[in-house]
Amino acid sequence: MYYGADYYPEHWPQERWALDARLMREAHINVVRLAEFAWALLEPSEGTYDFSWLDLAIETLAREGIKVVMCTPTAAPPAWLCTAHPEIMRVTRDGRRVSFGMRRQYCATSALYRRYSANINRKLVEHYAHNENVVLWQLDNEFGCHDSTRCYCPECQAAFQAWCRQRYGSLQALNEAWGTSFWSHVYTAWEQIPLPTDSVAISNPCLELDYDRFSSDQMISYAREQVDVIKEFSIAPITTNLMGIGFDTIDYHRLAQDLDLVSWDNYPSFAGGTPSRVSFSHDLMRGLKGQPFWVMEEQSGPAGGAVATPTPMPGQIRLWSYQAMAHGADGIVYFRWRTCSFNSEEYWHGILDHHGEPDRRYREVQAMGEEVERLGARLEGAASPRSVALLYSYPDGWAVTLQPTAEGLSYSGLMLAYYNALRTAGASVDIISPWDELDGYELVVAPMLHVVTPELVDHLAAYVEAGGSLYLGTRSGVKDASNRVVTQRLPGLLAPLVGATVAEYDPIGAGQTRQFMLRGAHEVQTCTLWVDVLRPTIAETIATYASGYYAGETALCRNRVKQGQVWYCGTIPEEASLAMLMGWLLGELGVELHPMPKGIERVVRLQGGCQQVYYLNHTSEAVTLVGAGTDLLSGAVNTITLEPFGVAITEKES
Ligand code: GLA
Ligand code: ZN
Repeated sequence: MYYGADYYPEHWPQERWALDARLMREAHINVVRLAEFAWALLEPSEGTYDFSWLDLAIETLAREGIKVVMCTPTAAPPAWLCTAHPEIMRVTRDGRRVSFGMRRQYCATSALYRRYSANINRKLVEHYAHNENVVLWQLDNEFGCHDSTRCYCPECQAAFQAWCRQRYGSLQALNEAWGTSFWSHVYTAWEQIPLPTDSVAISNPCLELDYDRFSSDQMISYAREQVDVIKEFSIAPITTNLMGIGFDTIDYHRLAQDLDLVSWDNYPSFAGGTPSRVSFSHDLMRGLKGQPFWVMEEQSGPAGGAVATPTPMPGQIRLWSYQAMAHGADGIVYFRWRTCSFNSEEYWHGILDHHGEPDRRYREVQAMGEEVERLGARLEGAASPRSVALLYSYPDGWAVTLQPTAEGLSYSGLMLAYYNALRTAGASVDIISPWDELDGYELVVAPMLHVVTPELVDHLAAYVEAGGSLYLGTRSGVKDASNRVVTQRLPGLLAPLVGATVAEYDPIGAGQTRQFMLRGAHEVQTCTLWVDVLRPTIAETIATYASGYYAGETALCRNRVKQGQVWYCGTIPEEASLAMLMGWLLGELGVELHPMPKGIERVVRLQGGCQQVYYLNHTSEAVTLVGAGTDLLSGAVNTITLEPFGVAITEKES
């Protein structure tokens, strides 16, 4: 298993490098990531190249047996390029061209930028393609970070017009799809199509969604150009470091198709102290290719810019690393080896502090490294059980973000809420695209399948008719592909599967609640944000509203469709009620569940004929587990004590 650190030799005197490499080896580090921001040092002026320092760093590391993830340096274009060609710089929504300084300033559409970046990448790849120490390529760095996916420059406008022409074929089709009879928006030439820059009123959501799609496509095609350059010379696999939930301007399901390996950057301190948000991101990343992934930047110290987060408590770095492995990480790379004493990230701490002497965090990384060396081969490459699928769509997220419709409704918030409820009930969850293969899942949960096409309905119907169980949340089937509201009764194209329609809806918004009850149950449940009053046609009522003028009307229904069944829930249950509902649903389906005490996470992995179970203690209290089996880490049998932030892994034949 790869275990490593993000390393910036260019920040330190060369005399230090050998010591760094030795300390790394002593911490069982076997890989480092290099050079993702080093363009200005690799090409100090246009057309002059200097790889000598990087060669020396790689040799120094290789002497200690350390391999390299080599990066294309395009996330930080050099000053000579940005000042000579300001037209490569991104334009923000309010029309401001960003200036040099910081990073990620480029426009991914810019043909000139693409030329310059292909040039440096080609030189770099030519130079390192046959270096046996380079085991993986990373493209750029965090595509889309710092709000950098969407650009509003003239070149993007022309490219967007061409993109629209490609998508719609004729202006007549575009005018129809976008509803341009409204407010005199009819386009009579492609050149008239604007970018959605700030306007006095709400702009056209059809144009906005297409612009979001276009922006994502531009970044993906830029990434693909980088992949093509690497593949001209190198056979090493290619990744790029993605970001977790909350960073959603690029359709990662599509971007990942061009990658050999998914990796992402994990900073638990920024998850608001909620470990399940971190787990969500891990599962989202695993779902992009349905394969193990790497954490390319794993937090290893207080993190932050001008203000830092609290330092990881003793045990937490290890806990976060095992949490990643439990959810499918086969490589862990800590950010960063040594805290930099200058520039933007002076307080973004790494394994070593500014002074560079090994300390507590180093010793924790070292102890973890020992365990990885001992057990890595036994743990890596495992699979997750195919039990519950949560359907997540980046374009749906864009559409809902453009028009939440109810105050406080957020796509990612809803996804997290459902994920938490399913995980609290004890289910194993894969987060996948609605278009992924659904065969074999015991339950498919789509909290909000917002933009729906006939092809998507066929795909879902095939799963259900063959015996699948599909749960749809409210606001599903609301939009067509061009982001117009459908004119059938909701849930639109999904109504035949659901066996019910929405008689009327009430966007009650955050802070407002209503009640509902499962039929035959006595407890009253709470829901919020949105109420659909359902009229079953052939579906059976499972829950009814217990307050509001719609008391007694259907809130949740179930429809049998051939061998399978479809639930539709017209509202958004609050936390405890959602956990109850998901627990009830899983119970109805006979899914095996293992609810855990609060703060203890249980994750199942399948390895050959064995089941490996990770127990992760996210609390600062010790917890004892009885009858869990033998802990591979401590050797404890049956009664396992999880220390504060402790971990256990058991294995049994399945
Ligand atoms: C991101 C980047 C890194 C670094 C860290 C800390 O994840 O990829 O280069 O900036 O955050 O800010
Ligand atoms: Zn642009």
